[in-house]
Amino acid sequence: MLPSFERLLKIRGGIPLKGEVRVQPSKNALLPILAATVLAEGPCRLSSAVPLRDVENMVEMLRRFGAKVEWCDGGIEVDTTDVHPQTIGRELTGKMRASVLFLGPLLARFGEATTDLPGGCRIGERPIDWHLSGFEQLGYETKVEDEGVVHVWGEGKNRVVHLPGVSVGATENVMMASCTQAGASVLNAAREPEIVALGNALSRFGFGVTAGDSEVQIAGGKPRGGEVEIPSDRIVAGTWAAAFLATGGEGRIVGYPHKDLRAFTALLLEGGARLEEDGDALLVLKSPRLKALKFGTGAFPAFPTDLQPIVSALLTKARGKSRIVENLFESRSNHLNELGRMGARSWVDNRTFTIEGVKQLQGALVSSTDLRCGAALVVAALGACGETLLQDRHISRGYHGFIASLESVGAQIEVCR
Ligand code: UD1
Repeated sequence: MLPSFERLLKIRGGIPLKGEVRVQPSKNALLPILAATVLAEGPCRLSSAVPLRDVENMVEMLRRFGAKVEWCDGGIEVDTTDVHPQTIGRELTGKMRASVLFLGPLLARFGEATTDLPGGCRIGERPIDWHLSGFEQLGYETKVEDEGVVHVWGEGKNRVVHLPGVSVGATENVMMASCTQAGASVLNAAREPEIVALGNALSRFGFGVTAGDSEVQIAGGKPRGGEVEIPSDRIVAGTWAAAFLATGGEGRIVGYPHKDLRAFTALLLEGGARLEEDGDALLVLKSPRLKALKFGTGAFPAFPTDLQPIVSALLTKARGKSRIVENLFESRSNHLNELGRMGARSWVDNRTFTIEGVKQLQGALVSSTDLRCGAALVVAALGACGETLLQDRHISRGYHGFIASLESVGAQIEVCR
């Protein structure tokens, strides 16, 4: 049986995309910053935020905690003065991974927090043991009940946390839990651009946080409201580059975060893509058929796992056999099954995927099984022969106005339901 879906996209393949697109603000930067507004204890403005489904869910959680949240021209205004800890039911926390990120700020402000276990894309186990270890190292008590309710409480009396593994979410949660403590530090921290963005936001909210290295340092201070600009979404920027290349088109991607995408851009260049840096834009020039590539995903600055499905889609038509090692998530290969329906040839051996490029993909009936799988299928469908019917319920969690932007550069997509 096919999984449930909420819309059916009919995508006509084989039309080279041409023109200019602007990269949307980053979902994965915005979500932790929304959680961090709890620490500001006052009015905050997050400019250039866009209303993605995951963002709407996070906003709904903030409201249930007692925050006033309004969408305004080009952003979100949040006032967390009257926030208090609340248990948020699984019907909401289960929709996304980032719901767990309220634990850190609630702990720092109130010394207690409770949540239901988070949901999110089904790409692996995705435990939260390193988050809990971080809280325990700070001095808090933690308890996970059989039904999946997580409680954390006590006093954060310690200042140094050494995370058991490199994790974006655990780094964000523990940074927020410890940021009221002057002189605190988080060791073995992740260094993703979204962590730097969170550090900058926390500094705006009064806490003097330096992030972006394997040690996050916290100078501490007094909470205050503030304005934060959300940076460009590196995964969406990468998706655009792939979409132009898959169709043999050419375009200008404005707001391309070059320094956040070094590993991705370098890999495409190695495959023979013709790309040029043009200020804050990337020019994708008409490129030859890509060569097969070998790469592995990893924590920043290595190749981002969220772009693995999207590059997989490109490699289904490359010359020769590509080899990908997915080092972060143990079951992030669902997109390969779906691409197989379009004629792609691939083999999965645990975390190693082999993709043998074919000359052409054929349109087919496919389903997005997670957010980036959905984006990968759009990329593949745009470059395929004939029509693809994509059953989707994930893409709008992370891509804003995607179909309209694709149409603006020549794609033919019909939303059938
Ligand atoms: C974030 C991103 C997600 C991206 C991922 C890796 C958001 C909302 N999501 O997810 O899009 O794919 O980073 O770049 O920003 N792990 C543990 N225990 C923990 C935490 C993590 O074992 O307590 C493991 C995970 O199972 C995974 C690895 O660490 O194998 C990396 O996960 P992590 O960096 O935490 O990803 P997320 O923060 O969930």
